[in-house]
Amino acid sequence: MRAPALGCISLVLCLLELPACLPLPDGRAPKRREPPDRRPSPASLLGEQPGPQPPAPPQPAGPRHKPLLPSRRPSGPRHKLLLPKLSPKLSPRHRPKLSPRHRPPLPRHSPKLGPRHEPPFSPRHGSGPADPARPLSPQDPDPCEGPEPSKAKAEYRNYTDGKLLDRVYNTYLQMHTHQTVDFVRKKNAQYGSCSLRTMGAMEALDLLDQLVDESDPDVDFPNSFHAYQTAEGIRRAHPDKDWFHLVGLLHDLGKVLALFGEPQWAVVGDTFPVGCKVQKSVVFGDSTFHNNPDTRDPRYSTEFGMYQPHCGLENVLMSWGHDEYMYKVMKFNRFALPKEAFYMVRFHSFYPWHAHGDYRHLCSEQDLQMLPWVQELNKFDLYTKQEELPDVQQLRSYYQGLIDKYCPGQLCW
Ligand SMILES: [Fe+2]
Ligand SMILES: [Fe+2]
Repeated sequence: MRAPALGCISLVLCLLELPACLPLPDGRAPKRREPPDRRPSPASLLGEQPGPQPPAPPQPAGPRHKPLLPSRRPSGPRHKLLLPKLSPKLSPRHRPKLSPRHRPPLPRHSPKLGPRHEPPFSPRHGSGPADPARPLSPQDPDPCEGPEPSKAKAEYRNYTDGKLLDRVYNTYLQMHTHQTVDFVRKKNAQYGSCSLRTMGAMEALDLLDQLVDESDPDVDFPNSFHAYQTAEGIRRAHPDKDWFHLVGLLHDLGKVLALFGEPQWAVVGDTFPVGCKVQKSVVFGDSTFHNNPDTRDPRYSTEFGMYQPHCGLENVLMSWGHDEYMYKVMKFNRFALPKEAFYMVRFHSFYPWHAHGDYRHLCSEQDLQMLPWVQELNKFDLYTKQEELPDVQQLRSYYQGLIDKYCPGQLCW
């Protein structure tokens, strides 16, 4: 009697499994699964490892919890080739379990992960000492050979005299005349889809060999050298944060806009919010806005203008330039960098805010949390500027490695 009973049970089990074996009708075939994005997560870059974690402290709402995905998906076939598609949402039951053997290997320049409970890095507390057990490699510079500022810190950003003053003033005069709410909205729409061209990050950096920033009173050489100077300064001070080195290298890449036909006043220089009253610390603010129509528009000329108190800088229209453009490029191409990196790039030219304390009435809690990072980048952005130029050929392979790790291949610009 046991054999027929077992046969019945087998038959029932077979019937239960049968639907999975039948071919699906046309049009219902499962979608092809795309490989997962294997680039390191922003959390891992800050020293947080996957696996069981203690409950995280409450975080303010902000980009940390937002996926680093472009809000607008590219539509043309060219973009489809460049950007991996989103994997379909799989339920845990169907998600393939990767055994350690099948896990993707760590990138060659994998970030050094700290202890599991290491607190997030804060630039105010420094990056800690370099690992003394780690031998110097040929890629490392001599730590004693850092660029010393060629002049006293107080002599940087001199907007009252100097041999470059006329050029600098004229750039700001044009900027402060033409950067209006309408202009900024137009430029955001024009460049927001990153559909101008494709090129790798190193190619963009090489283009900056052709650009001298006309708003900068401290630099009269191509911007590509400034990128390496900034990155190397960060590398010396924060040897364990290779993603920060890369931020130094790429923070000004948005200046390629000037080589795409934009005038320098729409690319370089300090930024400021449009749509509200200009505050006192804006460079040449007393003498350069008189022909800007927004200053006579009642919607835009009050303290808050078109904004709500503490609306957050992400909701503020900043004057159009290389900061916002590069932020858009990073976001669109899903750079595998922490949110701090995105923030630093986006607001590094907002000197009235990060260096002078203005516009705080527009800031959110998150803006104030990010401020030390922007100020940390600024130390190197500003004080590594010197006439002695770095040996770019010697440094190139190290930074190509960082590009390959965090923003590889062809990017949409
Ligand atoms: Fe910049
Ligand atoms: Fe810079």
